[in-house]
Amino acid sequence: MSTAARIHRDVVSYVRRSARMNPSQQRAWDTHHSAWVIDLPSGDRATSIAADAEINWTAAFGRQAPLLVEIGSGMGHAITVGGQTNPEVNLVAFEVFTPAVASTLGRLARHQVNNVRLVIADGAQALATVFDDASITELWTFFPDPWHKVRHQKRRLVSAEFAELVAAKLAPGGRWRLATDWADYAQSMREVLDAAPRLHNLHPGWAPRFAGRPVTKYEQRGLDAGRTIYDLAYAR
Ligand SMILES: C[S@@+](CC[C@H](N)C(=O)[O-])C[C@H]1O[C@@H](n2cnc3c(N)ncnc32)[C@H](O)[C@@H]1O
Repeated sequence: MSTAARIHRDVVSYVRRSARMNPSQQRAWDTHHSAWVIDLPSGDRATSIAADAEINWTAAFGRQAPLLVEIGSGMGHAITVGGQTNPEVNLVAFEVFTPAVASTLGRLARHQVNNVRLVIADGAQALATVFDDASITELWTFFPDPWHKVRHQKRRLVSAEFAELVAAKLAPGGRWRLATDWADYAQSMREVLDAAPRLHNLHPGWAPRFAGRPVTKYEQRGLDAGRTIYDLAYAR
């Protein structure tokens, strides 16, 4: 079975939550979604995309440029700063929770960031479906849901299969940056990525804190609870 087929799985890395937006999110959505959100034909779940979905990224951005992808962009802090500090890059963020995407829209509009596009979809499935192999220059997965109960760990985004998929989609030399505040997930990321034949660690162990990553409530919550923040950086 191909990686793309295997990643189209029943066990997903997120829970379905109410998509109700607060008034400011609703306003941001109504005003801005047509400018930043890319609609894709959906598959058998609300957040899955059709197996034959395609996106012409050059057309979606109106230019050809290196592609940076974030999966699980939350309220959009990192992708907004990423867009501002990398004007020469096309950035795509995948997030399954619509109210968070609406908050991201407000943030992008306030800062007038035009080199970002948002997709409401399972980013793992989308990575397999709507990107050519060797087409992504950088991938970010910051504070993926930790799923720390042992019986839930199969839901973790970062797995050996996912690492294989990422390695296929990264361009040679392309980078994958990760962060988590859960020590056992960090350790398992290290094991999985160190074992991935096409990836190598850019540092002897943990990476220094990535300066392009603003502190979000997830990082702050980990720090407040006394947890260590682990950064990882690998390259194809
Ligand atoms: C713990 S939050 C972290 C958000 C953000 N990266 C940050 O650091 O603030 C994880 C986010 O990933 C999203 N998510 C989980 N699995 C996803 C998937 N397969 N595709 C897209 N988004 C996903 C969740 O909805 C949630 O917003």
